[in-house]
Amino acid sequence: MKFFLDSAKLDEIDLAHGTFGIDGVTTNPRHVQNSGKPFKVVLRDISAWLAERKLSGWAQFPVSVEINPHLSTAADMVREGKVFAAMNPCFVIKVPCTEAGLAASRLLERDGIRTNVTLVFSASQALPPAKNGALFVSPFIGWKEESGEDTAQFLSDVVTMYRNYGFRTQIIVAAVRNGKQIVEAARLGADIVTAGLAVYQAAFEHPFTRKGLAIFQDAWDKTAPE
Ligand code: E4P
Repeated sequence: MKFFLDSAKLDEIDLAHGTFGIDGVTTNPRHVQNSGKPFKVVLRDISAWLAERKLSGWAQFPVSVEINPHLSTAADMVREGKVFAAMNPCFVIKVPCTEAGLAASRLLERDGIRTNVTLVFSASQALPPAKNGALFVSPFIGWKEESGEDTAQFLSDVVTMYRNYGFRTQIIVAAVRNGKQIVEAARLGADIVTAGLAVYQAAFEHPFTRKGLAIFQDAWDKTAPE
């Protein structure tokens, strides 16, 4: 299973890469806003970070970049997607799962620009991105659970459908909020989870690990070295 970091903050990307070995990054307009930097500056900073680490293409380290969410036609989405894709070979263009977004994904993929179809909230919605050859599809589970919906069946259906037909689109379980959801995504066989740094930090620690360390430190201190 791959881990992507859901963030546009360079310090978080760097820490998650160095500590948890993240395999890619997903950004969205809210993450860019939270970075406190202008959109294009974020893209340039991420490009510089990728270059420093010699990460040179989407197959090696994909970074999803979301197009302007106000765009409503496939032609406009394709035009902007091509501009972003030209900025860095790691950039994957994130388009919404609307009719225009699906058409844009199909056109961009046809031209060799990889796409991530985002804002997917039902199993049926996950089918067209796969048929269109999108690199990624992003079913959102956090938002659904926050509104009281079940997501285990949703995810299980998407994974089963994709396996049944051998679709090559990779499933990014998105808006992941806790370790239980990460394990659930892994148990169901999703390809990738994307989560914020705090979610990974909480999921990958345990109070007993710290308690155990304190016990061992105490024993160490009470033992003669030679
Ligand atoms: C995924 O690609 C999205 O950026 C993300 O998971 C959205 O969730 P959020 O509510 O954490 O921003």
